[in-house]
Amino acid sequence: MPPKKTVLITGCSAGGIGAALAVAFQKRGFHVFATARDPAKMPPEFAHLPDVTRLPLDVTSRASIDAAVAAVRKATGGTLDILVNNAGVPYVVPALDADVRVARDVFDANFFGVLETTKAFAPLLVAAAPGAIVVNICSTAAHITTPWMGVYAASKAAMEQYSEALRLELRPYGVRVLSVVAGAVATNMTASSPPLTLPEGSFFRVSEEETKRREAGESFIKGMPAEVFAEKVVSDALGGVTGRVYRGLGATFVWFLSSWCPRLVQDKLAVTMRGGAFERAL
Ligand SMILES: NC(=O)c1ccc[n+]([C@@H]2O[C@H](COP(=O)([O-])OP(=O)(O)OC[C@H]3O[C@@H](n4cnc5c(N)ncnc54)[C@H](OP(=O)(O)O)[C@@H]3O)[C@@H](O)[C@H]2O)c1
Repeated sequence: MPPKKTVLITGCSAGGIGAALAVAFQKRGFHVFATARDPAKMPPEFAHLPDVTRLPLDVTSRASIDAAVAAVRKATGGTLDILVNNAGVPYVVPALDADVRVARDVFDANFFGVLETTKAFAPLLVAAAPGAIVVNICSTAAHITTPWMGVYAASKAAMEQYSEALRLELRPYGVRVLSVVAGAVATNMTASSPPLTLPEGSFFRVSEEETKRREAGESFIKGMPAEVFAEKVVSDALGGVTGRVYRGLGATFVWFLSSWCPRLVQDKLAVTMRGGAFERAL
């Protein structure tokens, strides 16, 4: 392995933030460990890009995490300069209709996956310190809670609080932690969310507007291009930023809204922002 700085990124399927981050770090001269739970879903060009090593990594599997740690150790001699916890899953559902098993899966990927991956790579990061970094891709969903997003928002809020505690705890070890509060980014996330099906007797039904939008394959919000988002995040990481940073479409607005606006205004906007995915059924 050449003496380049190294970064490992979770969730690098084509079209997503992880894949865009992999390219952005590679362009800045890093050796990138691009990972995905299904490596076949990574952009095909990763097979030929110099300084990109593809690895399987499912953040909900201890065995998979251990195998990735072993592969990085072998390649670098026991160090990792940057870990990006990017992998995550959406869940759009009315709070009362959330399936507890699905909700646990969401927390497994979005929170426990981050916890377990970070713990496993921590010795390699500390070995690369000072200057090592953990980048956690959090969400504005944790700052302004919109309807139908309660479970996802809860998982991202848990992740962000963990991220911020980690920041304080790793500071003495020379490892910086960045909590990227992401606004809307144009990725596969909407397409990859499970179909909106509601249980019998639900207080809600899927709205006609949402059904049409899904049939047309449209996203709810057109976000910032993933490449633009990735460039900003890489600049933050390499520019010495620490703690929360707001990136992506609407992220700064959400910061303003959640920090300075009365609850009445926040509620009005939260409902408008989410639009009519569901409507009253009873
Ligand atoms: N897009 C946005 O507007 C937005 C806004 C705020 C925050 N975020 C956050 O940004 C991150 C990236 O999302 P994205 O928008 O790029 O969506 P995406 O295109 O759907 O990418 C999500 C990635 O996470 C992977 N993943 C899911 N579960 C995993 C697991 N158990 N182990 C390993 N990888 C797993 C997915 O793999 P598969 O392809 O196999 O499913 C995919 O590679 C997520 O954490 C998301 O919460 C996104």
